[in-house]
Amino acid sequence: MSNKTEKLLALLDGQPVIPVLKIARAADAVPLARALARGGLKAIEITLRTPEALEAIRRVAGEVEEAVVGAGTILDSRQFAEAEAAGSRFIVSPGLTRELLAADRDSAVPLLPGAVTPGEIMTAREAGLDFLKFFPAEQAGGAAFLKALASPLAGMKFCPTGGIGAKNAMDYLSLPNIVCVGGSWVAPDGMVEAGRWDEIEALASEASRLRR
Ligand code: 3PG
Repeated sequence: MSNKTEKLLALLDGQPVIPVLKIARAADAVPLARALARGGLKAIEITLRTPEALEAIRRVAGEVEEAVVGAGTILDSRQFAEAEAAGSRFIVSPGLTRELLAADRDSAVPLLPGAVTPGEIMTAREAGLDFLKFFPAEQAGGAAFLKALASPLAGMKFCPTGGIGAKNAMDYLSLPNIVCVGGSWVAPDGMVEAGRWDEIEALASEASRLRR
């Protein structure tokens, strides 16, 4: 296992689900991260899909001691650097590019990049990566696809995301090559907009008890 994978696994600390967050108002970030942490999901991924995402990361990094904030939807080295400067402890990307690999090599912050096909996964392996995001999981073949990769690509571990929810998370978590899953279901947009933090805490609590 690579040093950076060990670092990332230490940050995740056995957490079975990484909340994938799209935060429209930076002011929601702190109460949202606190609610998720109360529910047992300390490691969170704030995606760079909104104009206030970097500010949201900054606030969680600065104000929520119990949270481990990562940045998601990182597409290039500039975003990697911005997310790191904002306080991200890990970086998630939907795919792997040469530019992101170089950014990863220059940084102490671990990268969890996406890969789907055996060729993409082998390219990542050649670059020294052994823990990857598998995205979009359901659309790309789901748990059956990942199960089929376990023997030929033994040693590669995955965090599938995309189309995963409370109903199908265990299909993935029960596989030997799955470390955790990611998903937005623990923080639905409507609940965040309405500040329904107790309900989000309850969803997180349910998700945090899923066991491999
Ligand atoms: C991601 O970036 O990981 C996905 O957009 C999360 O997918 P979901 O919204 O289907 O959980």
